[in-house]
Amino acid sequence: MRKKIVAGNWKCNTTIQEGIELAKSVNDLVLSKGAKDVVVVLGTPFTHLYSVNEVIDNSRIHSAAQNCAAEAKGAFTGEVSVSMVKSTGASYVILGHSERREYYHETSESLNKKLALTLEQGLTPIYCCGEALAVREAETQNQFVKQQLDETIFNLTEDQLEKIVIAYEPIWAIGTGKTASTQQAQDMLAFIRGLIATKYSDAVAQKISILYGGSCSASNANDLFSQPDIDGGLIGGASLKSEDFLAIINAY
Ligand code: 13P
Repeated sequence: MRKKIVAGNWKCNTTIQEGIELAKSVNDLVLSKGAKDVVVVLGTPFTHLYSVNEVIDNSRIHSAAQNCAAEAKGAFTGEVSVSMVKSTGASYVILGHSERREYYHETSESLNKKLALTLEQGLTPIYCCGEALAVREAETQNQFVKQQLDETIFNLTEDQLEKIVIAYEPIWAIGTGKTASTQQAQDMLAFIRGLIATKYSDAVAQKISILYGGSCSASNANDLFSQPDIDGGLIGGASLKSEDFLAIINAY
């Protein structure tokens, strides 16, 4: 059985105090009413991770950084290394989000270093991929996503690949209120799983959780999560309200 995962990505939102309140509220709701078979992850800003980990029950809820340095340590002013992330108690690192690729020039080369460091430290990468609207309109989304994977996670060994989570987030659906249709999301996730089966094996492909992200909400999560290849969601806006986030966790 693949893990079902609902991961929040808070992006650049909340002060530490607001983040602690949000994490406490999610924690209370998940412990009292949350589906027990869903892995819940909170992707908070770096500054919040330690404090958030103090207020969540780590047997039910995990935390994630939204990025990490491409170097292990050293003279890289402003960077946050994976070992620093690990020392906060976080166990996941979101890597390759389209906002980082687009605004901060994240490349496959830097992502490969980040993937290696994250895996070395025993943290789980949530590797993001997904195409822009022009690519979707040209109907070349499959080639585009395949190239993203070929340049990064498909360089990993089978053992390494089995440890990661993949999130497909079409850029045109992020923060726009325009979700990919259930069929579009299912088709892409099945395509990605098929690529893994071809490149590695069907057994590996069946083990890896693949998430959908992009305007996922309480109203569409149930439909999305009912699909055979959709193993959960990476949630932006709706993860900032604990009741909405709980409804998505319970949408299975
Ligand atoms: P929204 O859910 O706000 O569209 O954001 C999705 C996302 O980018 C999660 O990483």
